[in-house]
Amino acid sequence: MNGECRVCGGVVEEFIDLGRQPSANAFPLPEQVGGEFLFRLAAGACGRCSMVQLLEEVPQTVRYHEGYRYRASGSKGHRRHFEEDARRFLRDELTGPGAFIVEIGCNDGVMLSTVADAGVAHLGVEPSANVADEARAKGVSVLNAFFDEETAAAVRAEHGPAKVVFGANTICHIAHIRSVFRGVGALLAPGGVFVFEEPYLGTVLEQGAFDQIYDEHVFYFSVTSVAAMAERFGFELVEAEPIPLHGGEIRYTVARAGERPVGGSVRRFLAEERERGLSSPEALRRFGDNVRQVRDDLLALLRELRADGKRVVGYGAPGKATTITNFCGIGTDLVPFVCDSTPDKQGRLVPGSHLPVRPPEAFSDPYPDYALLFAWNHAEEIMAKEQGFRHSGGRWIRYVPTVTVD
Ligand code: SAM
Ligand code: TMP
Ligand code: ZN
Repeated sequence: MNGECRVCGGVVEEFIDLGRQPSANAFPLPEQVGGEFLFRLAAGACGRCSMVQLLEEVPQTVRYHEGYRYRASGSKGHRRHFEEDARRFLRDELTGPGAFIVEIGCNDGVMLSTVADAGVAHLGVEPSANVADEARAKGVSVLNAFFDEETAAAVRAEHGPAKVVFGANTICHIAHIRSVFRGVGALLAPGGVFVFEEPYLGTVLEQGAFDQIYDEHVFYFSVTSVAAMAERFGFELVEAEPIPLHGGEIRYTVARAGERPVGGSVRRFLAEERERGLSSPEALRRFGDNVRQVRDDLLALLRELRADGKRVVGYGAPGKATTITNFCGIGTDLVPFVCDSTPDKQGRLVPGSHLPVRPPEAFSDPYPDYALLFAWNHAEEIMAKEQGFRHSGGRWIRYVPTVTVD
């Protein structure tokens, strides 16, 4: 089924259907099972502007509310990364009079707390009240609202123009993206920058990381689609830097057209994406074939291990685990529980597949024979922490880019 592009109004052609799925971070309590919001998780590419996006969407108020479970501070790697981001802004952009930064989707304040500690004017715009409160407890100023054109105008009227508007793992979540760009246009000071860090379509396709596809990720950006989108709203993409978060992302720096020189990184990426036919129909069809192969291989492995009487436990309950468990039909018969370090997820169930989420201590009590690494993008940090598992004879199962046991 095709749809209408949220950026340019062109026709979005479907290339993958991951079936009926719940909202990826809506971890229900055991007694809430049965009332979950379900939708058809399918993605397509716009034939006109190339933007990859979901065909159907979950209303934003169902996704973001006072019970939002994701915590940006959930790993050492993320804490370090966002502190470095803040230090860079403080050094390069937030100097002199009028220094003011707005973060769209500041979550628990992982980035802005460093700006607040430096005493620099800032505002987080964050609709999920629980994480907004956690940010406030770190000394961060937060407006509890969804960012759009109207919110941007209100922020500008009250605080003045911003030298930096920042968003990480948030801009690709916002279906009303035209309103976001118009809002940034109204809010940004002359010479200011709009910087956002989001999962990269190239990585998703190349690694077959289909578990990045879930309700919160409405868009899957490429340098080509972001450059075209920026232009449509009077901006220009001036920098595109790869960063390692969530398996592979890009930090996009956008300025008003003509205000900053366009860096070589943008030209290089555009040429590379064109050469490899990044979102060509063949590439998207290949991706779909890979996804189905991974599903079949993983299910075959888990069934074989069950038949051999082996215990398999899931490690990490990121939103990605919702996609893969529901798409593959992995239930408690194959994976009796997952452990996750986020207190807010523990005692709850992975949406849809209903695998119970337990604290990390449950992992070694006793160690299972195999661990299915749902939080694969944190592999290094997790392996370093869980050396006892391997010493006990345990083995890790991964499924990105292919199913492996080691
Ligand atoms: N920036 C953090 C990071 O990179 O880890 C948090 C990312 S989290 C996946 C997405 C955040 O965006 C959530 O805290 C959510 O409440 C917020 N959000 C969603 N829609 C938004 C909107 N329209 N305006 C501002 N924030 C939004
Ligand atoms: P993310 O990939 O979206 O950041 O989510 C990673 C999930 O994995 C998050 O729920 C926290 C969890 N996690 C652990 O349980 N243990 C760990 O050591 C790390 C790094 C993450
Ligand atoms: Zn389009």
